[in-house]
Amino acid sequence: MRAETGFLLRGVLAYLPWYQRRLKRRAHTGGTDSARYCYSVWLRHLIQLHQHGCGSRFQNVAELGPGDSIGVGLAALLSGAEHYVALDIFPYTHHERWLAMLEDLIDLFARRAPVPDDREFPSVRPRLERYDYPQHLLAGAWLEAARLDQLRKDIDASGSERVRYICPWFDAAEVRRESIDLIFSQAVMEHVTNLKEAYQASFEWLKAGGLASHIIDFRSHGVSEAWNGHWRYPERLWSLAVARREFTMNREPLSTHLNLARRSGFEIVHCQKEVRGDGLPRQRLARPFRDLTDEDHRVSGTHLILRKPGPAP
Ligand SMILES: C[S@@+](CC[C@H](N)C(=O)[O-])C[C@H]1O[C@@H](n2cnc3c(N)ncnc32)[C@H](O)[C@@H]1O
Repeated sequence: MRAETGFLLRGVLAYLPWYQRRLKRRAHTGGTDSARYCYSVWLRHLIQLHQHGCGSRFQNVAELGPGDSIGVGLAALLSGAEHYVALDIFPYTHHERWLAMLEDLIDLFARRAPVPDDREFPSVRPRLERYDYPQHLLAGAWLEAARLDQLRKDIDASGSERVRYICPWFDAAEVRRESIDLIFSQAVMEHVTNLKEAYQASFEWLKAGGLASHIIDFRSHGVSEAWNGHWRYPERLWSLAVARREFTMNREPLSTHLNLARRSGFEIVHCQKEVRGDGLPRQRLARPFRDLTDEDHRVSGTHLILRKPGPAP
């Protein structure tokens, strides 16, 4: 009950200007201020993509919702990507920290550090069978001194072609159609309010055969003690409580994502489901969540790999 009271109280406080200012000062999104987190997230996507027959070289990479830093994208550049574009709706990251993040990541790649695992990041997904450094996927010469120097310059210069940060983005035209090989996100799609547009825009940006890799967390994000307790709030109460928060949860279950992805034209390559048996029973959920399918009611997280039909780029 304490989590619920805290959530509603914070919702009310968010209507007050001083609390808004406090929220802005402390704004922080998750883990991307840590190089080890970014390294772990990127390598987990890469290893899973490879394991599902999607390859491991992605020339042009895009990310939705990088949050506190663009470190996951920098890790992609250190794994052979040539261009990276990040799209967020709030400018959580600070350009002046990008170079330090790059140096920390270079160090991890140069040492071939194992992927930071579940002991270090228990809630990061996807989980892997093995956490050793994926040497077989990273055998290229991407840490060559001249390449790293160029990368440092590109990152230092704002407005470089190689690294773009677009924030806020509201228009699919921000990214050239059919220019992207891989778009990924980590703990973002559960927050996106214009989900249909996000799936459609991703589809437009991808080349034929291009891929999307999304880790989506359907849990209650601390608004309730129960993992599915965010589904107990009726829509009106929820809207009031989150109206003044910067970003919130869309509360959509797995099937909404699968349907929107399919309707945008994607093929589902992989849908890993984290299934739970605990949480609030249906009768304690608000409508329309009481009528979720059995699967939606039990799936607390997913890794979706989607493909735009066509030959691999
Ligand atoms: C929980 S944070 C995750 C940040 C980061 N990916 C990580 O792993 O720590 C969610 C992020 O999604 C962003 N976001 C919310 N709606 C978005 C949208 N429509 N497009 C892009 N980013 C969005 C938020 O601004 C925030 O940076």
